[in-house]
Amino acid sequence: MTQNNTVTVTDNRTGKAYDFPILDGTTGPSVVDIRKFYAETGMFTYDPGYTSTGSCESAVTYIDGDQGVLLHRGYPIQDLAQNCTFLEVSYLLLNGELPNREQFQTFENAITMHTMVHEQIHKFLEGFRRDAHPMAVMCGVVGGMAAFYHDSIDITNPHHRMIASHRLIAKIPTIGAWAYKYSVGQPLTYPRNDLRYASDLLQMMFAVPCEEYKVNPVLAKAMDRILILHADHEQNASTSTVRLTGSSGANPFACIAAGIASLWGPAHGGANEAVLNMLTEIGSVDRVNECVKRAKDKDDPFRLMGFGHRVYKNYDPRAKIMAQTCHEVLEELGVKDPLLDVAMELEKIALEDDYFIEKKLYPNVDFYSGIIFRAMGIPTSMFTAIFAIARTTGWVAQWNEMITDPAQKIGRPRQLFTGSTQREFVPFDKR
Ligand code: ACO
Repeated sequence: MTQNNTVTVTDNRTGKAYDFPILDGTTGPSVVDIRKFYAETGMFTYDPGYTSTGSCESAVTYIDGDQGVLLHRGYPIQDLAQNCTFLEVSYLLLNGELPNREQFQTFENAITMHTMVHEQIHKFLEGFRRDAHPMAVMCGVVGGMAAFYHDSIDITNPHHRMIASHRLIAKIPTIGAWAYKYSVGQPLTYPRNDLRYASDLLQMMFAVPCEEYKVNPVLAKAMDRILILHADHEQNASTSTVRLTGSSGANPFACIAAGIASLWGPAHGGANEAVLNMLTEIGSVDRVNECVKRAKDKDDPFRLMGFGHRVYKNYDPRAKIMAQTCHEVLEELGVKDPLLDVAMELEKIALEDDYFIEKKLYPNVDFYSGIIFRAMGIPTSMFTAIFAIARTTGWVAQWNEMITDPAQKIGRPRQLFTGSTQREFVPFDKR
């Protein structure tokens, strides 16, 4: 980070001018350092939804939303999705560099050795209703894991942080798969050390004790790619939630549970589920126009799910890879899904429509993922859960970065107060 210039803010009420440093990163927009803004001006800044606020310094992920660029530690997402496995990307996010073969072997081995969860987690799961949403179950179980691993809770100790990070990345597929198994009333399937990360996730979701489960390599590759595409995405709502939770020194499992809770919303990770529900509701290509019309109607709260993004004002680069993966998977499996035709027509019409062009609304990563999941036999309620499994790596990398940042403080935003000023208490009989 370098500082070469300042911004001057003038308070027109008093004519007083204040200088604030401009900080330059390695790329992307500069930021105005307003850490002393309140101390110097007696005012707060106001930015609901943080549309103009940088909350931290980070070297993990870079997005240029106008150009549709996504880099992890400098590497374009396209190159990573094409050439790496999910665990290689996880290593990169956590450690800053791609691993050599030996480093990768050690890392993969560490993750594999942590995939089992405490046996009492079974009992924990049994406390949930069978029809509980997997995200509710994951949120509860991951938060509850803070009560199980007492040997690595000193977050100031790098070794403890590493163990907690490995445990989270390793155990989250087991928990996600078990949330699904529990919901369908099937026996919980243990992880298998001979399988790689994505294959093991499929095995834990789909294997049953009465027959041998063979992992389909096409599905395993597609799942691995989906995990890569969701691994990290800068300071989005759930990642910022993890950082804010962690800023108080909270237990890492509790921080990731907070991230899962934030991801669940339909405006964030829950959108992939909402996309499939929307495509199912549209049903056929001839109803697409009607749906686009509704999305443009100001008086109708309906939005095209899987379209638009806070940061991307161009095609989400992940959506392009997802669309390609979707075609590959459906072709390999010989699946003809009418919802894919609906999705393609919707994308075509929306991309040619002035409303979507003017507002720069393009398909995001969630637009095609649901169709792939459906072809794989993954139920809709598990879509966001798989996103959470992938994003755990990003959350953990960002959490580690935050803990080791010398500028780190407990997160504590302020407000523009518009409520009542101080007034006299009114007793019951006078109200
Ligand atoms: N369909 C129709 N209109 C839309 C859509 C959409 N999907 N998205 C945004 N708009 C319109 C808004 O109505 C608004 O119009 P206005 O300026 O006339 O009021 C304008 O575009 C800007 O939208 P905002 O909501 O202000 O943009 P914001 O950056 O706050 O929201 C968001 C981004 C939440 C992703 C939004 O585009 C949306 O709701 N999309 C659908 C849900 C979705 O796909 N979410 C997944 C995001 S990606 C992820 O989390 C992995």
